[in-house]
Amino acid sequence: MHTYLVTGGAGFIGSNYIHYMFKKYGDDIRIINVDKLTYAGNLANLKGVDERKNYEFVKADICDRETIQRIFNENDIDRVVHFAAESHVDRSIKNPEVFIETNLLGTATMANCAKAAWEKEDGSFLPDHKFLHVSTDEVYGSLPDDGKSYFYETTPYDPHSPYSASKAGSDFIIKSYIDTYHFPANITNTSNNYGPFQFPEKLIPLIINNALSGKSLPVYGDGMNIRDWLYVEDHAKGIDMVQEQGVLGEKYNIGGHNERRNIDIIKTILKTLKELLPDSDPRKKNVSEDLITYVTDRKGHDRRYAIAPDKIKEKLGWYPETTFEVGIRKTIEWYLNNSDWMENVTSGAYQKYYDEMYCNR
Ligand code: NAD
Ligand code: DAU
Repeated sequence: MHTYLVTGGAGFIGSNYIHYMFKKYGDDIRIINVDKLTYAGNLANLKGVDERKNYEFVKADICDRETIQRIFNENDIDRVVHFAAESHVDRSIKNPEVFIETNLLGTATMANCAKAAWEKEDGSFLPDHKFLHVSTDEVYGSLPDDGKSYFYETTPYDPHSPYSASKAGSDFIIKSYIDTYHFPANITNTSNNYGPFQFPEKLIPLIINNALSGKSLPVYGDGMNIRDWLYVEDHAKGIDMVQEQGVLGEKYNIGGHNERRNIDIIKTILKTLKELLPDSDPRKKNVSEDLITYVTDRKGHDRRYAIAPDKIKEKLGWYPETTFEVGIRKTIEWYLNNSDWMENVTSGAYQKYYDEMYCNR
């Protein structure tokens, strides 16, 4: 039985990954979820999972070496899946320091603690012990809007925002451990995820939430920037496939071949909301293209991201199973059916609860 240490499992992708893993492996795995519960971490994302005997939550900072090492010492961990990070580009432009701390120091701490727990006296590592570092396609920079250039695993790094620079640095930390110590790790670089439990600072949940409440829908710049959207459960599957079947030491791009302009995403959301909401729902009258508001562009805004997922497809047989048409509908339905989740997150009630709950721990 594998014992997983998942970092950032209370966040958007981490929580979807934990749900996916228990759905796939049931009682055959154990997961320890280490999360600091920043504004982006929400234990409500793990409802149902928290009752399992083979699941444990530890509130901790990945920069806290003593606590992380203790978790390794007290548990027979043979898999690490490292999601924890500051993840929002706009916040990194306003306040870069916390990105440097968590994404660089935190990743180095996780790698150091895994190395200390797994390295044998002769410098080799315990067999079948693996670390997977979850990263982003933003490390590759920006592509021209030509519809034919792509990010490959070999594309040189060219990060522009403090967020992507900190993620690029974290990738290099893991790469240096692989190159120097033969540290048993993989790196995945993934395109924009969407799906349930995404914090409404990110484009898709923000637009859904604002449209339902009749608030303006901010479009940065000309709205023609392109992102490559991937349904989060397909990402979770890809991570598991890379960890179990990938070649140790290698990196894998995970992407949906699903490029969309921001303005088209927004219009699709509005159209789908109109279709899904019954006439009797008072929120339906709020949903209108009149809410679309062009605002000052994001500083250093990358124009286009597009992943070439050829390697993971050819070597591991992974492909994005969820089409955008199906995925966006499922996502919008989830937010409509979970308005209490959104209300809790946007009101800050859950953060207050955790602050009170954990203030003396
Ligand atoms: P998120 O912001 O939703 O979640 C991050 C989680 O990490 C939260 O639960 C937060 O509490 C936790 N965390 C933050 N700082 C911590 C610390 N110091 N110690 C312990 N826990 C801490 O992020 P996400 O969108 O789920 O992204 C997860 C990972 O995937 C990140 O590494 C991100 O760079 C990467 N990624 C995200 C996307 C995307 O589209 N969202 C795409 C590619 C890669
Ligand atoms: O590409 C992977 C990355 O995708 C991840 O590494 C990041 O963690 C994740 O946040 C995401 O970054 P983006 O900056 O692409 O995502 P965001 O949802 O913030 O923005 C998507 C696009 O929409 C981007 O071009 C900016 C634009 N945008 C965003 C917001 C929040 C708007 O036009 N209006 C908005 O209000």
